[in-house]
Amino acid sequence: MRKPIIAGNWKMFKSVAEAIALVREMRADLDAVCDVEKVLCPPFTSLSVVAELVKDTDTRVGAQDMHWEDQGAFTGEVSPLMLKELCQYVIIGHSERRQYFGETDESVNRKVKTSLKHGLVPIVCVGENLAQNEAGQTDSFVGGQVRSALRDLTAAQVSGLVIAYEPIWAIGTGRAATGVMANRIIGTVIRGTINLLYGAQTAQSVRIQYGGSVSPDNISEFMSQPEIDGALVGGASLVAAKFVPIVRQAAASKRP
Ligand code: PGA
Repeated sequence: MRKPIIAGNWKMFKSVAEAIALVREMRADLDAVCDVEKVLCPPFTSLSVVAELVKDTDTRVGAQDMHWEDQGAFTGEVSPLMLKELCQYVIIGHSERRQYFGETDESVNRKVKTSLKHGLVPIVCVGENLAQNEAGQTDSFVGGQVRSALRDLTAAQVSGLVIAYEPIWAIGTGRAATGVMANRIIGTVIRGTINLLYGAQTAQSVRIQYGGSVSPDNISEFMSQPEIDGALVGGASLVAAKFVPIVRQAAASKRP
């Protein structure tokens, strides 16, 4: 059984003081839900305080990006060695990084390899844009992103990572995919690609989230799908009154 995983991607929101307030508001409620892995991904500036606030709970912390080198003259960048002291997860290849900051399939693959080398679990993001979706290119595009992201990884490494399927047209738009559609891409395209490359056992052990306008109103629709193991939540993760119900419902809908 794959343990469901709900991650909150705070993006470039929340000062340190605001981050502290949000975590204090949700900490006990999140801790009370034990059948779901919970991950908070604040900006770099708040990783340290958030890690401190949840250290005695089973809520985990993740970064939103990292560099692929261990250290060096890379002004403005943050390395996996630095993140390792603060968190367990790292989002890699989010579509906003691909779109605005020059992230490529190749840099995603380098980052995935380095994160695994240092024991950080990557949450690898893939997903098609609206034009690709409308042109019927979703399967080939997303399958290609998965192949590139996993290049040169072993089956053992692949089975431990998390993939987030986030159709770009659904991110921040209030227009989520349907559960059935996301389930097909996640099962047939993403798990299917891993099955071809690494076999059924590995494909069955990878956790794959849906992301894009997830809310308390639609989380159950996604979680009730057999191939969907959780969600990467953006906007709704910034509000305790939305994120806590999402986590609770995720636990309730995956309970056997
Ligand atoms: P959203 O963002 O939930 O605000 O659509 C999801 C994401 O970008 O990870």
